Amino acid sequence: MDKLIIEGGKPLQGEVRISGAKNAALPLIAATLLTSGIHTLRNVPDLRDTRTMLRLMENLGVRHSREHDVVTIDTTDLYHAEAAYDLVKTMRASVLVLGPLVARLGKAKVSLPGGCAIGARPINFHITGLERLGVTCKLENGYVDASIEGRMKGDVIYFDIPSVTGTENLLMAAVFAEGKTVIKNAAREPEVGNLVDMLNLMGARIEGKGSDRLTIYGVEHLQPADCAIIPDRIEAGTYLLAIAASGGEGTITHCIPEHLPSLLEKMRATGLQIEEGEDTITVRQPKGGYDRLQSVDITTRPYPGYPTDLQAQFMALMTLCSDVCVIQETIFENRFMHVPELMRLGANIRVDGHSAVINGRSLDGLTGAPVMATDLRASSSLVIAGLAASGRTEISRIYHLERGYEKLVEKLSELGASVWKEKE
Ligand code: EPZ
Repeated sequence: MDKLIIEGGKPLQGEVRISGAKNAALPLIAATLLTSGIHTLRNVPDLRDTRTMLRLMENLGVRHSREHDVVTIDTTDLYHAEAAYDLVKTMRASVLVLGPLVARLGKAKVSLPGGCAIGARPINFHITGLERLGVTCKLENGYVDASIEGRMKGDVIYFDIPSVTGTENLLMAAVFAEGKTVIKNAAREPEVGNLVDMLNLMGARIEGKGSDRLTIYGVEHLQPADCAIIPDRIEAGTYLLAIAASGGEGTITHCIPEHLPSLLEKMRATGLQIEEGEDTITVRQPKGGYDRLQSVDITTRPYPGYPTDLQAQFMALMTLCSDVCVIQETIFENRFMHVPELMRLGANIRVDGHSAVINGRSLDGLTGAPVMATDLRASSSLVIAGLAASGRTEISRIYHLERGYEKLVEKLSELGASVWKEKE
């Protein structure tokens, strides 16, 4: 396995281009299953997770090819409708093939994803939503065996929690359902909106994009897609926080500032200067300089609240501040695994249930040390802390990072970071 080496203490400067969103690419790739034909997806990031999803599609009979960031997907032939455990266990987003397979073939057999480092990650909302549309779902031997005779019937689906992939799965399942389907308390993440746009481009009739109420009027069939993936707001936020924590200043390009309302507001509250352009965001140090960074509390919430996927990265920044702040994680039950690793770098943090108290600046700032990545976003928090720390930080198990950050070493190097990979 590879490890990432960072010689920290260098302020980052310059520009970095944001790639397509992982969490939009995964549902949009799955959505091509809804109809036979040749689809074109643009601005698709080349990541471990997108490669896993395309491999899963291959197992179903789908052919695909990539030219730079354009992926062509041929869903003319589907051999079968089973997503096996060996792939699903490596990426729980594989469950996104469930809805489109049932919609197109009337059946699907998808392994239950199982938990992951950050939580149990159940899919009960996905299943109860499908059952509401008339699908029979049998849970046996670790699989969901879903089937329906004839056409689904539209109905009202209510989510206790606005599940992102739950909303996406049910959107795809309902496109052919007879009559009208309403999803209440739907997720409002921009990635869900990207899927709504793609499905409507294919001929679906979905209203309510961006709201917590989505209405789907069933249609008979769809055309193949030609659609662009939106920029990755989580990658964008990660680089903004990395530039800030390193004491530098820089601009991220090819992003959508409106997709980061809560992060930008919280970064401004620390004293950082944030300037929004059409598709760029520039971050500069506080007017009084790096030492004027203020501690700021955050609580993670569904979009447009503060994103759970940027919680660990913000904590890395807060370890550099000169006061005390509290970070509350309300979405997942175990998303503080970056804390013990940050403490190895000298941070002073106490976890109490779903809250973490970050006790201001360690006396001598952060110092480099060997640390271990545990999940995708915790790993990026360690990268940010390593960039800010003096000396060398070595991050092991960086396959976690490669799931969600395209060309990470190249992009950080372009910003002036001293970072490279080595064999473990
Ligand atoms: C999506 O996961 C993202 N993944 C996650 O990003 C992100 O952290 C999460 O949304 C929250 O924003 C993708 O889009 C591929 P949820 P998802 O269903 O859909 C509970 C990353 O780092 N729940 O919105 O799986 C669940 O346990 C990843 O890129 C149920 O109880 O998240 C959680 O507490 C990590 N039953 C809450 O809802 C269900 O059926 C929100 O989960 C579904 C979810």
